[in-house]
Amino acid sequence: MTELMAGVEHSPLALLLLGQQRDQSSERGVDCPGELPPASDPALVERARAAKAALGDQVFVLGHHYQRDEVIQFADVTGDSFRLAQQAAARPDAPYIVFCGVHFMAESADILTTDQQQVVLPDLAAGCSMADMASFQQVEDCWEQLQSAGVADVTVPVSYMNSSAAIKGFTGRHGGTICTSSNADRALEWAFTRGEKVLFLPDQHLGRNTAVRELGLSLEDCVVWNPRRPLGGNTVEQLQAARMILWKGHCSVHGRFTLESVEDVRARVPGVQVLVHPECQYEVVQAADQVGSTERIIKLVEESPAGTAWAIGTELNLVRRLADRHPDKTIVFLEKTVCFCSTMNRIDLPHLVWALEELVAGRVPNQITVEPETAKYARQALDQMLALP
Ligand code: 13P
Ligand code: SF4
Repeated sequence: MTELMAGVEHSPLALLLLGQQRDQSSERGVDCPGELPPASDPALVERARAAKAALGDQVFVLGHHYQRDEVIQFADVTGDSFRLAQQAAARPDAPYIVFCGVHFMAESADILTTDQQQVVLPDLAAGCSMADMASFQQVEDCWEQLQSAGVADVTVPVSYMNSSAAIKGFTGRHGGTICTSSNADRALEWAFTRGEKVLFLPDQHLGRNTAVRELGLSLEDCVVWNPRRPLGGNTVEQLQAARMILWKGHCSVHGRFTLESVEDVRARVPGVQVLVHPECQYEVVQAADQVGSTERIIKLVEESPAGTAWAIGTELNLVRRLADRHPDKTIVFLEKTVCFCSTMNRIDLPHLVWALEELVAGRVPNQITVEPETAKYARQALDQMLALP
């Protein structure tokens, strides 16, 4: 440590940025402890195949649609976060679940699987910047302030899957539900049968888009909760009047699509249909022709006739895969700048090979476990989501 830094107390985040500490609980990630094969190893595909064959039914590999092609080819099932949660819960016989996705998804898989199953995340640095935008302490502080403003009793928490297990536990403890982008409308409808207001965590865009576009609330019914300001930056009266209290979080990938990019692609590609994920900003979603979770995006493109043109606003690995699979259609990426999710991309073939070969050797690498008390309440909120109509 330099003299300048000596005696200065650094926050866990600062230490992490300085590369000085591990933070296993953060979505922001840590180093992978393994001796990874080099990415240039020409035998990687063969090694992954051999390790997977050696493990047989012992292993079940889940792959989110945003994963790289080199990884997705080894997934037993691919899906959006809802489908993957369902699939994890439906496989009690596989002792090892290798989750090719991000940390919060692996946590959810651990919560939904049996105590005998072990969930592996091939790279612990595969976190999610959106999930990191709501810490447990910030959310507890928010709830206390809602209590003192006299609105907590009529507020139901609805948390996006893209949140830590601790936030999911908070949600379950306060009688709320988890949602994903494929069921956020039904989750909100359910919540409004139980309370007058919703505290929506942590993606303000999904919350606003769903409340206004799907449930018919107005923009004025929504306030934003900034965890860095007293009362989230609102007055007591504003909180009393609001129907949706939207946590000030966003996806660092989907938040980058702009209204200009929609206008630009319409000018460039005749007849193009703009299709975006609901994590995009409200104005972008409003300007698009269709909106949907990753599963819905795939379905819409698959079912469209040859010759149609699509500009898609979601993660680039998925858009490229769709373009490769549908050469009879014009499929372009909505934004001109490259837009991979850097944490999803942490899971690459060397990490997958390493994780599978460790399992073959009888070691369980990068196991994701959720502490039982948190898991109990998080499970209530996840089960509530799985039971939505
Ligand atoms: P879905 O898988 O629910 O479409 O969410 C997208 C996402 O951002 C996952 O991290
Ligand atoms: Fe998180 Fe966005 Fe990446 Fe999904 S795409 S893992 S929400 S940063």
